[in-house]
Amino acid sequence: MSHLPNLDHYWLPFTANRQFKSMPRLFKAAKGNYYTTIDDRTLLDGTAGLWCVAAGHGREEIASAVAQQLRTLDYAPAFQNSHPLAFEAAERLAQFMPQGLDRIFFTGSGSESADTALKIALAYHRVTGNPLRNKLIGRERGYHGVNFGGLSVGGIAGNSKSFGNGLAGVDHIRHPLDIARNAFTRGLPQDGGIALANEFEQRITTLHDPATIAALIVEPMQGSAGVVLPPVGYLKRLREICDKYGILLIFDEVITGFGRLGTTFASDYFGVVPDIITCAKALTNGAVPMGAVAVKREIHDAFMSNSPANAIELPHGYTYSGHPVACAAAIATLDIFTNDKLVERSAGLSGHFELAAHSLKGIPYVKDIRNMGLVAGIELEPTPGRPGARAFATYLKCYEMGVLVRYTGDVIAISPPLTIEKHEIDRIFSCIAEALTELAAEGEQGMDPTRYLKNEQLWAAHQQEIHQQQATLEQTA
Ligand SMILES: Cc1ncc(COP(=O)(O)O)c(C=O)c1O
Repeated sequence: MSHLPNLDHYWLPFTANRQFKSMPRLFKAAKGNYYTTIDDRTLLDGTAGLWCVAAGHGREEIASAVAQQLRTLDYAPAFQNSHPLAFEAAERLAQFMPQGLDRIFFTGSGSESADTALKIALAYHRVTGNPLRNKLIGRERGYHGVNFGGLSVGGIAGNSKSFGNGLAGVDHIRHPLDIARNAFTRGLPQDGGIALANEFEQRITTLHDPATIAALIVEPMQGSAGVVLPPVGYLKRLREICDKYGILLIFDEVITGFGRLGTTFASDYFGVVPDIITCAKALTNGAVPMGAVAVKREIHDAFMSNSPANAIELPHGYTYSGHPVACAAAIATLDIFTNDKLVERSAGLSGHFELAAHSLKGIPYVKDIRNMGLVAGIELEPTPGRPGARAFATYLKCYEMGVLVRYTGDVIAISPPLTIEKHEIDRIFSCIAEALTELAAEGEQGMDPTRYLKNEQLWAAHQQEIHQQQATLEQTA
């Protein structure tokens, strides 16, 4: 049992802080597919951290590459200077990208990657003499991080409504989730993809002049808004429409990159090559913050050939673009992907994963199950008037049973490390089944979060410590 820190000062992101602090869920260690919490629970990681720890936790190869890099070159200025590892990391990453997307811009996160991609798209049209192409199209339920660009093209009102108007000149197309038609489909929905994609064309021709659209950005598989899969043919048709009107297509592959769907990128899965791909997360196995934007060579070259000599071609970048330590982590991670054949492993497990996920059909409250590669979304019947409450209670129950799941709205999202074993996959889904069955038996009582995660010993120690700190403060005042 470790001691509980003072919880007052840290403001947690995307978290109900008051609820969290009344019931802290703190991790102190991780190895392989398991976390250890500060109250010594072992948790099977059903979420690869936040979709990022694809190669499993505590990889020695990454730890030693990072440690060595910190001792050799901790930082090099990212503007007007650089260091060899940034070029090596870019070259290695380019080899993982679909053919042609071999020019790499480094960022510090998925959000920065999304905003960088949007800015590159806008600047590309300007540098090629089309400054009127300055509108951006996103999609309902899209998640492209939390910076203003990504937020504006994103389609989750809960994330944006507190923050003003966002970017001007943004529109959205419809999301492809259709539970009434496709509930419990295994893999991609078969129907409706072309008609849905055609709505994009209809929208830009009736509401906009297509010649004013700079880019369409979509996640090939929408992860954060509850695992929404594209119907067959949908992404290909979006590509055709973009080509017809000279619109750049951006795939946000922050979640789908690096083997999550059983191919290196979702672009490979769908056989659709966008103009720009964003990634982050599994790029460094979550060990060091890093994102990247891969751009078609022609787009990059247009900047190089159309900008005045010695001018900065793209006035954009971050202090930590191509950070030496992040590059060391990325190279070590990409080595693991190759050596451990993680993409193939993911593909090989996806059939078993699908069967395990769909075994939940018929369990109380399960309204839909969606799966692809090593991702599953289990949509629950919401509790009337309390959206998300049932999924939260399920999450807490699973936590108590030793399995970490993720919930978003009333969807339980599962995305384990690609190193997961079959028996561990079975355990994740049987734990969810057990949690839901218990919830159904317990009724209202089961929904009360204060029932969960009681740890009197930890709390007693915490309270004692806070009292001691206060006493010391009073003495010194
Ligand atoms: C598709 C997508 N884009 C962007 C992001 C934002 O990434 P970050 O949290 O690293 O800024 C996420 C995060 O989950 C994501 O899923």
